[in-house]
Amino acid sequence: MPKSTAALSTSLAPNDLDAFWLPYTANRSFKKKPRMVARAKDMFYYTPEGKAVIDATAGLWCCNAGHNRTPIVEAIQKQAAELDFAPTFQFAHPTAFRLATRIAQLAPGDLDHVFFSNSGSEAVDTALKIAIAYHNVRGNGSRQRLIGRERGYHGCGFGGISVGGIVNNRKFFGSLLAGADHLPHTYNREHQAFTKGEPEWGAHLADELERIVTLHDASTIAAVIVEPMAGSTGVLPPPKGYLKRLRQICDKYGILLIFDEVITGFARLGTPFAAERYDVIPDMITFAKGVTSGAVPMGGVIARKHIYDAFMKGPEHVIELFHGYTYSGHPLACAAGLATLDLYRDENLFERSAKLEAAWGDAIMGLKGLPNVLDIRTLGLVAGIDLASKPDAVGARAFEAMDRGFHDEGVMMRITGETLALTPPLIVSKDQIGAIADKVGRVIRAVA
Ligand SMILES: Cc1ncc(COP(=O)(O)O)c(C=O)c1O
Repeated sequence: MPKSTAALSTSLAPNDLDAFWLPYTANRSFKKKPRMVARAKDMFYYTPEGKAVIDATAGLWCCNAGHNRTPIVEAIQKQAAELDFAPTFQFAHPTAFRLATRIAQLAPGDLDHVFFSNSGSEAVDTALKIAIAYHNVRGNGSRQRLIGRERGYHGCGFGGISVGGIVNNRKFFGSLLAGADHLPHTYNREHQAFTKGEPEWGAHLADELERIVTLHDASTIAAVIVEPMAGSTGVLPPPKGYLKRLRQICDKYGILLIFDEVITGFARLGTPFAAERYDVIPDMITFAKGVTSGAVPMGGVIARKHIYDAFMKGPEHVIELFHGYTYSGHPLACAAGLATLDLYRDENLFERSAKLEAAWGDAIMGLKGLPNVLDIRTLGLVAGIDLASKPDAVGARAFEAMDRGFHDEGVMMRITGETLALTPPLIVSKDQIGAIADKVGRVIRAVA
């Protein structure tokens, strides 16, 4: 049967696992033994067979308000019935302005202008492009270099992987963007192992930016981009004072500072944005995930006033920034975003995240001493647990832990390399924190 006919055929097996090429997934293992969920509510996923799985990863660091929250569901339903799509190129709809205003109000300082994208990767590419264009429109066209950090994750677009520093995300994809360079990562087990919160050691690593400036000259550097807490590489909290030092050096040389807050935004670290926790105002913040609690794809960039103002000149009929996505500020995403921000406010979820940090840190740090646990790092409602590799099978132990966690213990966790990453929704209760720690503890013993 031709493929086109087969696609229309009602005899197509409804759950054929072949066609979907899963992202960032070991496809062959998955398809042999799928980890499938069919439904979710609050802190739990449910498998197609109805088994509950506690969500210790907020989906993918995004469902900060928990799952299928009624106000968000209803807002999306209402919006879908009212306005399905509206272009935001030369036209717009009111909900996008409302959401942009609310996001700008949450951001510190004069981070006042919001550009919408549909994902974190697009948010990062947008911020990097704005940075280069900002210097360009101010007559500094030689400032084109972008500085990221080793072990950084900024999504999977070409811009993001060029400034990113995770080798497997880079090595298959050619020469990437020209002109990117990298700060060293901030992790040192010898100095930092088993730290709750920001480690004491490592602020001096920000001074490496001075070395990079000496190498390339400030006149060639557009921006530095870092995650305030490196998440996807395995949870690396910033050393005390590190981000302030980075800000100072950027100021000294006229380099823009971008915080990639795709994970840390919307109170993963107890404040609306990590910028507030660290008392540092970057020139741009990228966000995604938590803005809609994962319910509809959305991302964006929050830019300071001086960035926006730099573009607002020339004839008024001319487009100021030649950049944007068909779905920038999509009505469903905006409606979901507004309902999500209301929920965060009405349930005091940001404060809740801050209050739970100590209990969370204590519970997860309690796993210290279990077999193969080399380090545990906790910060906000985040934890990373490093396991020792099995001989000649790097990553196998964590992979088995994730798989057993799902099938045997009913807990969803994320892994990266040999690190287990835990980031529950902000609605997690103290009892559920205890349950997560118990389940993860049993899994770690099971893979010993
Ligand atoms: C810091 C950071 N930036 C960007 C991204 C990419 O976001 P997305 O997967 O929505 O493109 C992620 C995703 O985890 C992230 O953690």
